[in-house]
Amino acid sequence: MSYNHILFEADAAGVALITVNRPDKLNALSGAVVLELRAAFERVARDPGIRAAILTGAGTKAFVAGADINELAVLSPIEARAYAERGQAAFRALETCGKPSVAAVNGYALGGGLELAMSCTVRFASENAKLGQPEVKLGIIPGYGGTQRLPRLVGRGRALEMLLSGEPVTAAEAHRIGLVNAVVPRAGLLDHSRAWLAGVLANGPLALGLAMEAVDVGLDSGLDAGLRFEASAFGVSAATDDRREGTRAFLEKRTPVFAGK
Ligand code: COA
Repeated sequence: MSYNHILFEADAAGVALITVNRPDKLNALSGAVVLELRAAFERVARDPGIRAAILTGAGTKAFVAGADINELAVLSPIEARAYAERGQAAFRALETCGKPSVAAVNGYALGGGLELAMSCTVRFASENAKLGQPEVKLGIIPGYGGTQRLPRLVGRGRALEMLLSGEPVTAAEAHRIGLVNAVVPRAGLLDHSRAWLAGVLANGPLALGLAMEAVDVGLDSGLDAGLRFEASAFGVSAATDDRREGTRAFLEKRTPVFAGK
């Protein structure tokens, strides 16, 4: 598929750099952008040559400054529900694709932008980034998962503080409350993201997918069901060639070479 609103570039290491590319509109998520993101996330999920993704925004000011307010302004209630469901499904496709993703938050991550970032496995922010859910200032609430993922990341009290005030937090504050994993200078943001992924991708690929799935299942279904899933997934991991290779390599004092089998 060719894209009009995003850029999709995969490098030799199998890392897809997905850039929302509407810098004149601060990379606002129109419905068309969301459709293209969905297609890109499905490609990440199914292409065996792609092992991870980095999400970022074009230009110097914004990661993504939210859903496109021109579209939000004219949605009927039924259309608005479908709009939310399409965005939720797209972001969930990324979150559950089985491969790690990084949000390289290079500026404003507001509304749908923060919701997109929160759907990634981890978030690294540049020093100039500002992150928030300002929807209540527009008389609406987040529709792409903000009321659900924000409290899971930062806890109920801090999430409600952000959701009800609509005020953004700085990158430093986002780091302090656990909303982003690290703050790095803007010029080094993509290098930092790639370096982190390189370390992750040196690990057993099947184990990465199972670990992410276990966290997702547990957060969804509670501790007991999560623990049951973890034990089963642990059993599955013990059946892989990767387990044999990883444990042998440790005992033979060498670096493992994982085949993802
Ligand atoms: N939807 C549609 N267009 C948007 C947008 C959005 N979410 N965010 C920014 N834009 C557009 C602006 O309308 C402007 O377009 P124009 O040049 O055609 O007028 C362009 O992007 C640049 O934005 P501007 O507001 O001039 O930049 P700024 O540096 O003065 O302010 C922000 C930056 C992020 C503070 C401001 O753009 C803003 O508050 N955006 C909306 C954030 C928001 O509420 N998001 C949640 C939506 S649910």
